This record gives sequence, C-alpha cells and structure tokens, in this order.
Amino acid sequence: MRDWILKVENLTKIYGDGCPNCLKSETNKCPFCRATIAVNSVSLALYSGEILGIMGESGSGKSTLVRSLYFDISPTLGEAYLNGEERNIFNFNSQEKRKLRNFNMGMVYQSPYRGLNFEITAGGNVAEKLLMANWRSYSNIRRRLIDLFEKTELPLNRMDDFPATLSGGMQQRIQIAKALANNPEILFLDEPTSGLDLSVQARLLDLIKKIQQELKISIILVSHDLGVIRLLADRVLVMREGRIIESGLTDQILEDPQHPYTQLLVNSML
Ligand SMILES: Nc1ncnc2c1ncn2[C@@H]1O[C@H](COP(=O)(O)OP(=O)(O)OP(=O)(O)O)[C@@H](O)[C@H]1O
Ligand SMILES: [Mg+2]
Ligand SMILES: [Zn+2]
Repeated sequence: MRDWILKVENLTKIYGDGCPNCLKSETNKCPFCRATIAVNSVSLALYSGEILGIMGESGSGKSTLVRSLYFDISPTLGEAYLNGEERNIFNFNSQEKRKLRNFNMGMVYQSPYRGLNFEITAGGNVAEKLLMANWRSYSNIRRRLIDLFEKTELPLNRMDDFPATLSGGMQQRIQIAKALANNPEILFLDEPTSGLDLSVQARLLDLIKKIQQELKISIILVSHDLGVIRLLADRVLVMREGRIIESGLTDQILEDPQHPYTQLLVNSML
C-alpha cells in the first residue's frame, strides 16, 4: 500500500452546545439537546496520489468534513495528521494553519460564491492564491496565470472578466485553477460539477482526471453523483448522518454494496 498523506481520527463537528449523549445519537440531531452532529467520529486516511470519493445524501456531513480539513470550520473534536508531522494539525496556530492551506492545500467549494471573490476578476481570483503563497514577481504571476488558464481550458481573453459574467462551468474552472495555483499536495473538491449541464460536467471530469494523473495530487472528492464517483474515485467512503457507514474500493462499493443504506443509494442512482 502507498503511504498515507493525511490521516483523520474521530473528527466531530457539533453545531450547538452539545451534551454527553450527542455522539451516541443515531441521527445527526441529538434527541437530548437538539444539537446537530454534522460530522460524528469520522476517521479516514488519504493515500498519496489517490482520489478518495465521499458520497452520501444531502446533509450527511460531506461539506462539513472537507471544510474542517481545509480549516474553514473548527471541529469540536478529533485529530488530523500529515505524514512526517507529529502534531495534530487542528492544534496548529493560525499562522501555521494559514501556511498549510496556502502552500499545501487547494479547495474547490460546492458553491462558487464561497470559493470565488465576485468583486475581483477571474485572473485576480487565481492571482490571490499565488500572492498568499508568496508569489511576488508580476511577470511570474502573469506567466503562471496563463499556464493555469490553459491547464483548466479557460479562454485567456476572459481573464479580466468578473466571475458573475462567466458561465457556471467557467466559474468552476476558475475555482480549479485557483485551487491548483500553489501546486497543492492535497486537493479538496466539493461537488465540483454539480449544477452544470452534462456536457460541461463531462469535460470538467476529464479535466480533473487529467490533472490528477499529470500532477499526482491526492484528492478528496465529495459527490452525491454516482457517475462522478465511478469515473474518478479509487476508493469511496459512504456517509450517513455524519458518520462513515461503509468504505471500500469504488468498484466494490458500487457493484456489491454491503450496507442497506449504500444499497439504497446505489440502486436509486442507477
Ligand atoms: N453553520 C451551520 N450551523 C448549523 N448547522 C449546520 C451548519 N452547517 C451545516 N449544518 C448542518 O450540518 C449537517 C451537515 O451539513 P453539510 O453541509 O456538511 O452536508 P452535505 O453532506 O455537504 O450536504 P449537501 O449534499 O446538501 O451539500 C446538516 O444537517 C446541516 O444542516
Ligand atoms: Mg455539501
Ligand atoms: Zn446532545
């Protein structure tokens, strides 16, 4: 087995005060205190160069999980480790977290409104990530922007346009270009193709596959779309009510799901 690059242990996010019974709750709504256990004791490992899919119905905690790993959300409990680093990254100070996020991680948000700044141009959005990774030379940044636009098949003549004037597919490409800007080791893709029409979706999925093979990035890919998971993921985790209820190789999960919920999920998507 390849080396893991990111290991997560018992990650838990509770919205609300919580009570001693929250973690035992069957659903993500604690029957005692009414808190929401968005993510409940999730452990996982991401291996070097793999695409790890996360599937599960709406509200099962997928976004909360990846956004916690990108330090957008602080978890209530749990640990995460990078290979070769002894400390739990959730205990890093804010400067260390920022550094990790700016230099080693990329994120494509479910909503472009969260992932992009609509007040600045498409090129500016990507340049922002470069600036945060300490790129300083204007000509280097310019060259890198052109490279990223080409890599994500964005027309160069749209670089100075504002996100609101771009199509949904282009907005997602800008998010991808931005996420790749700092050559991240770990990329989080949260429903990168949802809301796009099928042909745009197919091209974007091909693009993600191509980029992953070329750059050997380790990816956590969230999608409730079986087609997306089938095409891209090496392994899959199935989430329900904040927990991981099944995991395995993608073919195995899709062809021979063991958990009744996964069976329902897979059958309903055929
Ligand atoms: N800021 C918040 N405050 C309170 N509850 C929240 C907050 N954010 C998310 N939740 C709740 O946490 C649970 C998990 O939400 P999350 O967005 O992670 O689900 P998801 O699996 O990404 O769903 P979807 O497929 O619809 O994107 C949901 O019950 C949601 O209502
Ligand atoms: Mg989500
Ligand atoms: Zn509770």
